[in-house]
Amino acid sequence: MTNNASLRDTQFVLFGANGDLSWRLIVPALFDLFWTGQLPERFILQGVDRTTTDATALAAHYLLGVAQHSRHGTPDEATWQKFANKIRYIQADISDATSYAHLHEVLTSCDTDWGCPTEKIFYLAIPPFLFDTVVSGLGNAGHAQDREHVRIVVEKPLGHDLETFRQINNVLTRYFNEQQIFRIDHFLGKETVQNILAMRFANPIFEPIWNRGYVDHVTITVAETLGVEKRGIYYEQAGALRDMVQNHLFQLLCLVAMEPPVSYDADDIRNKKVDVLHALRPITSENLSDYAARGQYDEGWIAGTHMTGYRNEPDVDSRSNTETYAALKLYVDNWRWQGVPFYLRTGKRMAAAVSEISIRFRDVPHHAFPASAGLNTQPVRLVIQINPEQGIVLKFMAKVPGSELRLQPVDMRFSYQEAFQTESPTAYETLLRDVLASNATLFMRADQVEMAWKFLTPILETWKNEPALDFPNYAAGSWGPESAESLLAADGNRWLIPTLKKPS
Ligand code: BG6
Repeated sequence: MTNNASLRDTQFVLFGANGDLSWRLIVPALFDLFWTGQLPERFILQGVDRTTTDATALAAHYLLGVAQHSRHGTPDEATWQKFANKIRYIQADISDATSYAHLHEVLTSCDTDWGCPTEKIFYLAIPPFLFDTVVSGLGNAGHAQDREHVRIVVEKPLGHDLETFRQINNVLTRYFNEQQIFRIDHFLGKETVQNILAMRFANPIFEPIWNRGYVDHVTITVAETLGVEKRGIYYEQAGALRDMVQNHLFQLLCLVAMEPPVSYDADDIRNKKVDVLHALRPITSENLSDYAARGQYDEGWIAGTHMTGYRNEPDVDSRSNTETYAALKLYVDNWRWQGVPFYLRTGKRMAAAVSEISIRFRDVPHHAFPASAGLNTQPVRLVIQINPEQGIVLKFMAKVPGSELRLQPVDMRFSYQEAFQTESPTAYETLLRDVLASNATLFMRADQVEMAWKFLTPILETWKNEPALDFPNYAAGSWGPESAESLLAADGNRWLIPTLKKPS
């Protein structure tokens, strides 16, 4: 954790200051950092947007967002006022070069007032089609030149495919160097996701068995009960593969499968993650059905509430071919993982909102116990719980007390909440704190994003060119389509119901 004494004076320039992302996630997280003393002493939140408003009205608008979405709820007036005093606003037309010249003057005059070159963070909370305009505007006005003090933050979707990602990246790298570019994947800011590295590399006991010799297969599940909400327009163009797999699920895969890094430095870790994607066995349009399954939710019931089918959601085509569920069977072709399947699945409107990684170990090589003792035998599994439980569960066999020899599966649990009795920072808090400290470890490097797009291209293209004939093919409130079961059944495996029980 960074403490604020090590943070330099900062001007945080928020493009899209009036938008939903700023209101719901970014400003509440900045406020939480402020509350916990993790913003630099001297800090300005410089909002930029096209709407007619001023700093006072913007602060009042943010207060509602903070009340609803910050970890600390509605702040007391004195605390809020201190934070609100840091907020400034510039109304700007982002297509006009003079806006960037004006911004330059504003930022420089603060440097002069404070008597030092401040850190300048440009956060693009704007739709991707505006990236080019804003990045070029900033670059042409000389904002990117100070390599040491200037950073730019962008969020997904980083492209629609390999080609469009490259276009975005070309614009960014025309003006900024890689060290200045922070690409957010909010999953990497989640405590439990970061804990995968701690668990694997701060303990000597897991690494010796973390390989093909001991691991039978790995499943990664990120299931949501949410539908597409009001995001039909975006989601129709995206689908589950782009929205979740290309970024979040691949990040989880990389953390589970990567080799030990030499250090916790950003590039040491990111190099090892890229190696995983580099080692993925390609999926082609010819072998696609053996390695990938897609689904789209139909109407159904979740927790007693009737849910409409995807095709009836607002802004969704009534004959849509967009997948709301995707499952992949992946092989990481290297010494450690040869022959070990990694099964990934994600979907909307599933039976439960749960994210977890399950490492299924191989069976014992020889059954020494009488058959009657082991009727209940289950494979040993290590489950890394990301959401809603946060912890680690080891599922293994134990003897049932009594004179008879009977075996039964039991759970050994580690719960974050119980162990630390403290609330975790939100993902955005963690990531913004790292942007302030210029620590890029939890951010995506261009080559990783590019490799993820490259890998998925044949699947994206085939799914686009060959519309699914069976959509909708899973009921809201179920665990997904039959075809996803077949992916695993072909290997004699099956998806297990995630480990939902709360630690007692
Ligand atoms: C976003 C996706 O990146 O992640 C959403 O666009 C998804 O569709 C969300 O709902 C899930 O994130 P979280 O943190 O709620 O699990």
